Amino acid sequence: MAPPHSTNGGSEHDSSTAAAFASLDTVSHSESFNTEHELFDAGHKFKEGALISSKEKYAAMYTRSIKDPDGFWSDIASEFYWETKWPEENGKVHTENFDIRKGPVKVEWFKGGKTNICYNALDRHVQAGKGNQVAFYWEGNSPDLDGCLTYSELLQRVCQLANFLKDKGVKKGDAVAIYLPMLMELPIAMLACARIGAVHSVVFAGFSAESLAQRVLDCKPKVIITCNAVWRGPKVLVLKTIVDEALTISLAQGVSVDVCLTYANDIALAREKTAWQDGRDIWYQDVIPNFASSCDIQWVDAEDPLFLLYTSGSTGKPKGVLHTTGGYMVYTATTFKYAFDYHQEDVYWCTADCGWITGHSYVTYGPLLNCAKVVLFEGVPNYPDAGRCWEIVDKYNVTIFYTAPTAIRSLMRSGDEPVKRYSRKSLRVLGSVGEPINPSAWKWYYEVVGDERCPISDTWWQTETGGFMITPLPGAWALKPGSATFPFFGIQPALVDENGKELEGVCNGYLCIKGSWPSTFRTLYEDHARYETTYFAPFKGYYFSGDGCHRDADGYYWLTGRVDDVINVSGHRIGTAEVESALVSHSQCAEAAVVAIEHEVKGQGIYAFVTLKEGVSYSEELRTSLRNAVRHQIGAFASPDRIHWAPALPKTRSGKIMRRILRKIAAKQLDELGDISTLADPGVVQELIDLTDV
Ligand code: PRX
Repeated sequence: MAPPHSTNGGSEHDSSTAAAFASLDTVSHSESFNTEHELFDAGHKFKEGALISSKEKYAAMYTRSIKDPDGFWSDIASEFYWETKWPEENGKVHTENFDIRKGPVKVEWFKGGKTNICYNALDRHVQAGKGNQVAFYWEGNSPDLDGCLTYSELLQRVCQLANFLKDKGVKKGDAVAIYLPMLMELPIAMLACARIGAVHSVVFAGFSAESLAQRVLDCKPKVIITCNAVWRGPKVLVLKTIVDEALTISLAQGVSVDVCLTYANDIALAREKTAWQDGRDIWYQDVIPNFASSCDIQWVDAEDPLFLLYTSGSTGKPKGVLHTTGGYMVYTATTFKYAFDYHQEDVYWCTADCGWITGHSYVTYGPLLNCAKVVLFEGVPNYPDAGRCWEIVDKYNVTIFYTAPTAIRSLMRSGDEPVKRYSRKSLRVLGSVGEPINPSAWKWYYEVVGDERCPISDTWWQTETGGFMITPLPGAWALKPGSATFPFFGIQPALVDENGKELEGVCNGYLCIKGSWPSTFRTLYEDHARYETTYFAPFKGYYFSGDGCHRDADGYYWLTGRVDDVINVSGHRIGTAEVESALVSHSQCAEAAVVAIEHEVKGQGIYAFVTLKEGVSYSEELRTSLRNAVRHQIGAFASPDRIHWAPALPKTRSGKIMRRILRKIAAKQLDELGDISTLADPGVVQELIDLTDV
């Protein structure tokens, strides 16, 4: 692994000028967010026990976090174990340059301090006598399969895997790829890497072989950890075949992964039926139990890399977001504690997969750093039926439940009965993440799921931010359905106009952040130039999030969605360019343009305009085959919802596709097409309209 601040500058860069982003009033929702005046206050009883029980208490802490970030965060950091404390010069624990005009963007927190996040998440609790406390309750895809690990047991499992990795030559700074479903082995693998200072790169197990190969080629892992197959709802997914294909692709391009540690998930696929490459592939259960269940800690610098996680941007190549150790540890633990009003008797369940940032920060690190009891769920919310989530809530007496609006909307469609079938009386706090939550979903969540008793933490953040940025603190202030409310400690949001001018008071603007916070991502792996151009060049002096945002008269923040070429499908970020390049890889596709459309359950859907090669005719089989090309290149979750045949695409005379027009055609808002006279061939628009239902 190269150090965080190396650059290669040679890759394709995202748009760097503000003019490249969608204008803020192009962001529309079928359901307008007109709930600015509806306030939902946590009851008196909740507030009495809340960690932050009033806006005044928040304001005092927030003010200190902004005026004295070093003092504020160093007090919190001191609650963790540091093998060597960070050197303090005049009380400074961080340095930053967030202003690209003043030189390279650079952020460091607690630099020089030596710690280990695995030690803080596990050993620290075991040594404090909490080893017998449950760390994970594991709930299988099938309701009759479950398991449980205490903190001591989890630590032993982590150590055994860490010893195996060391035995295979994995050293501090080496990358390890993890392609696993939600088995306990997934967080175990992450923690094992952290323990020995290796950098994990978890790839969501819904990504295709091509996508996995792309990530392997980028970070060149020494070992990949996977399993042979898994049940997902009523289907079996054979992951090992995908890994085999990915490793073949990467080998052909010069990157060889010599060890493929494979967990035998016998209930999904027998070992004998699993494709196998002797010499490279190793069954997890055959080797891991033979390793010692204790393993020395590799102390690392606070600024040493902890993990890489790839996310989509405006161009085809995924971005390797790099997080470091110390600041990430302090920030994820603190946000978890306050945004969920965490108390030690809580049982916490986040439905996210560890393949995404939510699973890194708020299934694994944040909760374990707080010694929480965490439910890990292998399955899907509506299997075997729409009551599954509430069955799990009752089974484990879950008190904090955190999920995505898409899951809420999909469960809402099955009505109230599957919810009411279960008591849910343990629930105290609800959470939402991944996309703006529409007020009707918010209200259903609040009224039906939470029985009007549980505050909802609608947490706005990103892979890049590492932790929550704008979020309610339950009990501290009244909520408004659809608003993420106020900034977390240390976060200074700025809404700017297209010229980068900061707006005051009530406004709509591009959401930027002033100044760093401890879990700011430090770079894009081996592409610091892209990091600067994408995030720091559009609005100089700020980090630009890519989201639009409204601030109301009470100062509440309302996220309005992406303003760049990123589509948010069921809370998953997908770059339009990635889908376009997958479509164009199809032998019969000449050109493609992808836009977002509103989707009742997924939030946004993928709408693709496709121009075929000369002489190829439209057919349903071709539509399926184009969709399969996307499944193959990216994964099933990126498959277009609609393919619209396009004899040609609307382009300016300089050849630029006018997506504004495509968005309107996709949304059937034909009276809002605007000026089409600047198109090279305005006649294209009518041709596209005529083909809408073909
Ligand atoms: O558009 C915002 C949306 O998800 C994007 C970040 O996606 P990702 O990096 O995959 O991380 C998802 C989990 C944090 C953001 O730019 N987003 C996330 N949470 C919210 C949200 N939009 C509105 N409200 C939220 N609570």
